[in-house]
Amino acid sequence: MLGAHILVKKSLEIHGSVEVAGAKNAVLVIISSLILAKGRSVLDNVPNSSDVNHMIMLLQDLGAYVEFNVENKQLTVDTSNLNKFEVKPEIMNKMRASILVMGPLLARFGKAKVAFPGGCVLGARPIDYHLNGFKKMGIKIEEDGCYINAEKIDSKEHLNSRIIFEYPSVGATENLMMLAALTEGQTTIVNAALEPEVLDLVDILNKMGADIKCGNGAFLYINGVSELKPVHHAIIPDRLEAGTFLLTAAITGGCVTVTNAIADHMDMFVEKMREMGHKVETGVCADENNPTRGIRLTGTRLPQGVKIKTGPYPAFPTDLQAPTMAALCLANGTSLVEETVFENRFMHVQELQKMGAQISLAGNQALIRGVENLYGNNLIATDIRASCALVLAGLAADGQTHVSGLHHWRRGYDQLEIKIQALGGQVEINE
Ligand code: UD1
Repeated sequence: MLGAHILVKKSLEIHGSVEVAGAKNAVLVIISSLILAKGRSVLDNVPNSSDVNHMIMLLQDLGAYVEFNVENKQLTVDTSNLNKFEVKPEIMNKMRASILVMGPLLARFGKAKVAFPGGCVLGARPIDYHLNGFKKMGIKIEEDGCYINAEKIDSKEHLNSRIIFEYPSVGATENLMMLAALTEGQTTIVNAALEPEVLDLVDILNKMGADIKCGNGAFLYINGVSELKPVHHAIIPDRLEAGTFLLTAAITGGCVTVTNAIADHMDMFVEKMREMGHKVETGVCADENNPTRGIRLTGTRLPQGVKIKTGPYPAFPTDLQAPTMAALCLANGTSLVEETVFENRFMHVQELQKMGAQISLAGNQALIRGVENLYGNNLIATDIRASCALVLAGLAADGQTHVSGLHHWRRGYDQLEIKIQALGGQVEINE
């Protein structure tokens, strides 16, 4: 008996226009950043995914008043009466992004007590960059069972800290930047992550009154201010969901326009789609404020294999690795996919193999020999982006594909199945 799953049928008539939701990876940290500004803030373009709802619950548990108008995609958060700096394991465990409340709680209360976070299992996902960075900023950290106790030490010795990341971690950059925004002196983050979602956070913090500048190279300079004020901000469009829609066209030989996608955020992905032989036009819905807005992909029936190597922005995004691999399984010749961001992000490979894909794994590399057909099967999605990869493969596979692990799909996307249906994709949720 199949439990809750996504049912996908072969769909070779994918075409039309679609608008992407607000970026999941931007909205989660931005909701957390509202802890920094006492009062009522409003966010537009907020997706109704389960991760977003978990972050809302987390803030409510801390004492925030939250109103989510799902239809208008508008979230109102009033953090005036926040009265807690402790987050319990059952709340932290829901997703890794919960760790992003640590910086804001420290900034607001001088203290934070949080459990170790959960999230997608993509190999070891340590938080040492977060904790070491906090220590450099004068935070005393103690591990106590499943809890991390953190407390600001009053001393001038930690003024003007310089934090140097060995690797540009998205979450650590965000967490430390939020604490630094309300910390006296200048904090410099060297080798900072500069993903579009991180820059959306810089944008909202500066609107709140922070003083954050990006320097040449991957430097962030944060001059602490004494107070931040509530704001109204619209979340950037989700480049990862945009990539998914473009891939629906790539894998089926269809044509899809993502009207609000920002091409500047997706250069490497677009480049690889063109290398595969797909026609990609950018700026198709441009306006004077957004000259690169709108991307259309017209899929070729004879796609070519390509080499992909994931990395920090602007390299190929790790979150589009699995979905793109689904398309490469049906491309002519061989493709090589190298995953450099996470140590174990190939869980989708064995599921694609069950569909007839020819993939061999060696360490962090996957060699894919293109096949003519994939075949529907019963599959298990083990993380958010794997669920997306398997649904994409199902659109091009003969027969029916059943993808279990529905909660992963729900964690990352706001009714993605309905949007794919509107483009002609036969995807439905069976609860
Ligand atoms: C964020 C995104 C996730 C994306 C990832 C990389 C959110 C909510 N999630 O995750 O979708 O796949 O960026 O673009 O925004 N690392 C350490 N120590 C640390 C922190 C990270 O070793 O303290 C390592 C990780 O194990 C990983 C690499 O650094 O190998 C990148 O992780 P990071 O950029 O921090 O990803 P997240 O912020 O967790």
